[in-house]
Amino acid sequence: MSFMIELIGINKSYGKGKNELPILKNINLKIEEGEYVAVVGPSGSGKTTLMNILGMIDVATSGEYLFEGRPVSKLTERELAKIRNRKIGFVFQSFNLIPELNALENVELPMIYAGIKPSERKKRAAELLSLMGLADRLSHRPSQLSGGQQQRVAIARALATDPPIILADEPTGNLDSKAGSDVINILESLNTRGKTVILITHDREIASRARRRIEIRDGMIIRDERTGV
Ligand SMILES: Nc1ncnc2c1ncn2[C@@H]1O[C@H](COP(=O)(O)OP(=O)(O)OP(=O)(O)O)[C@@H](O)[C@H]1O
Ligand SMILES: [Mg+2]
Repeated sequence: MSFMIELIGINKSYGKGKNELPILKNINLKIEEGEYVAVVGPSGSGKTTLMNILGMIDVATSGEYLFEGRPVSKLTERELAKIRNRKIGFVFQSFNLIPELNALENVELPMIYAGIKPSERKKRAAELLSLMGLADRLSHRPSQLSGGQQQRVAIARALATDPPIILADEPTGNLDSKAGSDVINILESLNTRGKTVILITHDREIASRARRRIEIRDGMIIRDERTGV
């Protein structure tokens, strides 16, 4: 069986020569379909760097990344773009919604890139937003929504093309505890319904609820533990 995600000896550094600054050091990591993984570690330890490599928005300096058994380094730009669009949904700390677009249009965006026709994508966007409890906020712009509502729009957008993997980088970092726990409940229920969820968090309580916890320190995985079955 091949893993959904396999990192083999991944290193990432910034800068060249004397100025080279190693960030990730010999990261070895396998993630199976359907896992719920929390990534914890101090600020600056390399969590976002790792997430960006997993999400194929950045590339490792050395080592191998196999996605569904295929080496990512061998994929063309076109293939990478397609995987980012269809296979991976991103949720960020700062929501990253487009301010000029309303909630419905923000959720439609990945479906435009995926070539889904307008009537179908509007219907799906509205359904996803309803699932997120935002049926009555479809034509609100991000600035007209609370932080928790914006993050739920961002989750709906991440789900637009029904990707098997959700990558969430501090999705509760800008939310109060009620809105944050709503977001975590949504991510947990997505995982229950089969999505692979990889979640960066500073919150010990949230991390302790994950079935698998990976701790990063100074660019290295120093702990990888599982609870339950
Ligand atoms: N583009 C870049 N150029 C140079 N250094 C960078 C770049 N991006 C990140 N770094 C450095 O890499 C290190 C890891 O950054 P990263 O964003 O991965 O940390 P993090 O674990 O996500 O931290 P936080 O919890 O604060 O979000 C930091 O020391 C940062 O300064
Ligand atoms: Mg970060």
